[in-house]
Amino acid sequence: MTSLTVSDEQVSATPAKIVQPAWVRALHWTNAVAMVLMIMSGWQIYNASPLFGFSFPGSITLGGWLGRALLWHFAAMWLLMVNGLIYLALGFATGRLRKKLLPITPEGVISDTRAALSGKLSHDDLTKYNYVQKLLYAGIIVVGILIVLSGLSIWKPVQLQYLTALFGGYDAARYVHFICMAAIVAFMVVHVALALLVPKSLRAMIIGR
Ligand code: HEM
Repeated sequence: MTSLTVSDEQVSATPAKIVQPAWVRALHWTNAVAMVLMIMSGWQIYNASPLFGFSFPGSITLGGWLGRALLWHFAAMWLLMVNGLIYLALGFATGRLRKKLLPITPEGVISDTRAALSGKLSHDDLTKYNYVQKLLYAGIIVVGILIVLSGLSIWKPVQLQYLTALFGGYDAARYVHFICMAAIVAFMVVHVALALLVPKSLRAMIIGR
C-alpha cells in the first residue's frame, strides 16, 4: 500500500512491475474474508455478555445469537489460522518478511512520520515499504498472533491453562482478545481508506489489474 500523495508523474516514472506476488495477494484476500467473519461473529459473541457499557448493532454482527456466532467464529478460525501459518511459513522461507519489514529503527520511523505529515514522503521505489508502513505491518502481524493465542486461551482455558495463565487468566485474556480486535479494526479502516485513495493507475500497476 502507498500513501495519499503519489502524483501521476510519480506513477508514470515508476517502472511497470507487479509489486505483490500472487501468493501474497491470495493469502491477503483470504485473510481479509476470515477477518471480517471473525470480527462480525466476535461482535455477536460480545453482545451476549458485554465487557464494556455498549453493544454492537445487530446489523453489523454475524450469527444472530450466541450459539450460531460461536459456530461462525470457530469455522472461520481454521481459515484464519491455516492461512496465517502458510503466510508466516512462506514469508520466512522466501525471506520476504525479513526483506520487507526489517530493519525498523526509531530514527527511521520518526523521520518518515515527519515526512508523511508534511507531504514529503518519497514514493520513488514502491517495492520498498517506508518505516511507518514497516512498523504498522510488523505490528499488525504481532497483533494477529496475539489475537489467535488469546482466542485459544479463552476457547480451551483448561487444556491450555499455561497459555491462559500467560495472559493473566481467563478474564484478562478476554480483554486482550477484545483490544487486539479493536487494533485490527482500526488498522483495517486506515488500510482500506488508503487503498481506496491510491490513484487507480497505480493500483492497476501494483496488482496487475
Ligand atoms: C484462532 C483464533 C481465535 C479463536 C480461537 C477465538 C476464540 C474466541 C472465543 C472462544 C471467544 C468467546 C469468548 C467468550 O466466551 O467470552 C471469542 C470471542 C471474541 N472474538 Fe475471537 N477467536 C479467535 C480470533 C479472533 C479474531 C481474529 C477476531 C477479530 C479480529 C476475534 C474477535 C472476537 C471478539 C470481538 C470476541 C468477543 C469478545 C468477548 O466479549 O469476549 N477473534 N473468540
